[in-house]
Amino acid sequence: MTYAIEIDSLSKTYQKSAKTPPKIALENIDLKIKKGSFFGLLGPNGAGKSTIINIMAGLVNKTSGTVKISGIDISENPVASKFKIGIVPQELIIDPFFNVFETLEIYAGYFGIKKSLRRTDEIIEALGLKDKAKAKPRSLSGGMRRRLLVAKALVHNPEILVLDEPTAGVDVELRNQLWQYVKKLNVENNTTILLTTHYLEEAEQLCDEIAVINKGKVIACDKKINLMKLLSNKQLVISSHSAIPQEIFANLEQVEVKFNSVDEVIITYDPEKLAVEKIINCIVNTKMPIKDISTKQPDLEEIFKHLIKQQ
Ligand SMILES: Nc1ncnc2c1ncn2[C@@H]1O[C@H](COP(=O)(O)OP(=O)(O)OP(=O)(O)O)[C@@H](O)[C@H]1O
Ligand SMILES: [Mg+2]
Repeated sequence: MTYAIEIDSLSKTYQKSAKTPPKIALENIDLKIKKGSFFGLLGPNGAGKSTIINIMAGLVNKTSGTVKISGIDISENPVASKFKIGIVPQELIIDPFFNVFETLEIYAGYFGIKKSLRRTDEIIEALGLKDKAKAKPRSLSGGMRRRLLVAKALVHNPEILVLDEPTAGVDVELRNQLWQYVKKLNVENNTTILLTTHYLEEAEQLCDEIAVINKGKVIACDKKINLMKLLSNKQLVISSHSAIPQEIFANLEQVEVKFNSVDEVIITYDPEKLAVEKIINCIVNTKMPIKDISTKQPDLEEIFKHLIKQQ
C-alpha cells in the first residue's frame, strides 16, 4: 500500500554549533498517513510537530530515518516529492515585494504550471482574498497573511496539504471559511490533509485519525473514534436552588466529587462501574430542589491531557 505520508524511524537532533548542547527534537518517529485521510498531528509546545513538517518541506535536514511522500523518498528525490505536497508553515514568512496575485503567479511559475492551467483567481476567491488581490503582504492582517500562505501551498494542486497551525490568530468566521474549503478539498478532491493545531475542538471535529506526540515521541496514533474511547469516564453536573450538602455523596464509591460552587457539583464516574441512578438518588433522597442536570462525555482535550500526563 502506498501511503500519502510514510515516516520511518525519523530522528532529529538540532546542534547549532559544537559549543551549544544538542537538542533531541524527534526520536524514532513512525507515522503512516493513508491517502485521503484528514490527519491531526497534536502535541504540546515543543513536541516536535513543526520539526516533522519542516523536514517534509525540506527546510530542516533530518538526522536519520526515512520520509516518503506519495511513495517518493524526500532524500532520494526531493524535487519530485515537492510536487505532491503543499505546506503551510507555522511561521508567517511572505515576500513583501509582490502583491497577493503576483505572489501566487510566481509560485505557480516555480512549479512550471502553464498560464492557461493556473488557478490563481479561483484560489484567491476560495480563500476570501479577492478584495486583497492587489494588496502587498505588509498591508495584510495576520489572518489574511495566513490565508495567503494557504493559497501559496495550493497553486500546484497538491495531493497532500499540510497545515501547521493554520488558524493561529485567525478569527472565527475566517477559520470556519478556511475549514469549509479544506474539508471540500478532502472530500471532493480526495486531498490528504495533515493538520497541527492547538485548538483541540477543531481537531475533534475535522480529523478522522490523530497522532499525539510529546517530547519527540509518538505517544498515541489511532482513528479518532478509538482515541475518544480511551476514557470511559462521564461527568454529571447537578445544580440546585439551595446549597448541596457535601456529605450526601459520601457513600458513593469510585467517583470524583468536585463542587463548582455551593449549589453546583460535578460528579465524575465510570458508567460501567456505577449506575447514574445511584448518583441521582443521593440527591433525590435529600428532597433538595434540583435546578438542572446535564452530562458531559470526555472530549479530545481531556483525552489529550490524559495521554500527556500518562507519559
Ligand atoms: N532551529 C532549531 N534549533 C534548535 N532547537 C530547535 C530548533 N527548532 C526547534 N527546536 C527545538 O526542537 C523542539 C521541537 O520544536 P518544534 O518547533 O518542532 O515543536 P512544535 O511541536 O512545533 O511546537 P509548537 O506547538 O510550539 O509549534 C523544541 O524543543 C524546540 O525548542
Ligand atoms: Mg510548531
